[in-house]
Amino acid sequence: MFKTVGVLGLGHVGLPTAVGFAELGWWVIGTDSDSAKVASIASGRCPFYEPDLEPLLRKNLSEGRLRVTANVGEAVRESDILFVCVGTPQKPDGSPDLSQVEAVIRVVAENLNGYKLIVEKSTVPVQTAQWIKRTIQRYAGNNAEFDVASNPEFLREGTAVRDFFHPDRIVIGVESERAKEWLLELYKPLNAPIVVTDVNTAELIKHAANSFLALKISFINMIADLCEAVGADVTEVARGIGLDPRIGPHFLQAGIGYGGYCLPKDLKAFIHIAEEHKVDFSLLKEVEKINEARIDKFVRKVQQALWVLKDKILAIWGLAFKPNTDDIREAPSLKIIKRLLDEGANLRLYDPAAMENVKQVFPENPPRLVYCESAIEAATNAHAILIVTEWDEFKQMDWQKVKQAVALPIVVDGRNCLEPRTLREAGFEYYGIGRK
Ligand code: UDX
Repeated sequence: MFKTVGVLGLGHVGLPTAVGFAELGWWVIGTDSDSAKVASIASGRCPFYEPDLEPLLRKNLSEGRLRVTANVGEAVRESDILFVCVGTPQKPDGSPDLSQVEAVIRVVAENLNGYKLIVEKSTVPVQTAQWIKRTIQRYAGNNAEFDVASNPEFLREGTAVRDFFHPDRIVIGVESERAKEWLLELYKPLNAPIVVTDVNTAELIKHAANSFLALKISFINMIADLCEAVGADVTEVARGIGLDPRIGPHFLQAGIGYGGYCLPKDLKAFIHIAEEHKVDFSLLKEVEKINEARIDKFVRKVQQALWVLKDKILAIWGLAFKPNTDDIREAPSLKIIKRLLDEGANLRLYDPAAMENVKQVFPENPPRLVYCESAIEAATNAHAILIVTEWDEFKQMDWQKVKQAVALPIVVDGRNCLEPRTLREAGFEYYGIGRK
């Protein structure tokens, strides 16, 4: 049986995975080619904001079950199972850029010192395992002893720790009995349904899952538009259909569309994979088109509320692509900020976690763009408050206090996270997405 688990790549997927396996009691060695990141992790600091991760990181470092090193080769040599958690960004044509996977696999090949189980955790296109096998054989020779397996991650940012310990399923794609046995043993402490399948199927499950989630969101966003046209309420429609267990209540929250590092990229990659295999999956192109149109729709809504945007002061509450993260990759906020600046509006931005990241993209430029310390400060003298990320603190605001701060009591809620009645009773004009 195996002794040590190696985690290659310590980002949003790799770090929770490494910490999680250590917490389950396994010996774990994590590595990343970014030595500054490794140094930060080694000192117990999580390089990104992920609730509950840092205390668990510190605990497992101090108890010695988790070690980190910037020497990728060393991590390979010391491990029996290797989780590939490096980034798979997208290329301009939408296809995934697998250069980081290839690079790390070459290091694996150069450091093979006995049987290794190489497990893909990063989201990769179907049949990537075949390439990994070929690459290892090319660089380590045909006698190299290894298996390649697929164990896609379903960790959501903001709840990654919870998702690791309470997964709704674990998918394992394997080609050998040993790989199956090892992975089942590794996950034994977790009580979750396990889908054991072949590698191609496991790879496909990941893309299919994220594409389906994106499809649900675009579907409900179209229903929201229809609701607006006929005077219905999308939150009630979502509840009405979501109680049907065949549909389910989740991912039916209408708004400004999905963002983040995974859904947009995985959808593009899946479209690309389908095209490569001559399968007409134009349904997914529509999903994407609908999502892209959400930004325009939102800006038009702000215009409908305020008429002219030039020189208006707009408070933007929420910048992260979703709550409980500081991640702004593919965040709708970035597109919204750009559009509103183009319209000549003055923006006052606030987010509990993501402001430093947004400053890198849009440096402070008063009075056009001002970063604020609190939601109330952002709302000061604003002609409208725009909710772009549904952080809990926005749901718990003292609206009388907010009203005293603003120039005009107008809220445009891009996430449908507030109660229209509460806002109207407090004297605000409230605009949601597909709501009465
Ligand atoms: C996603 C998958 O959920 C996870 O299983 C996978 O492993 C990684 O990708 P994540 O990117 O963290 O996770 O975010 P997720 O919670 O899926 O949300 C994605 C986007 O959809 C966010 O911008 C969110 O605001 C948006 N969303 C989500 C909606 O607009 N409406 C909804 O009903 C749900």
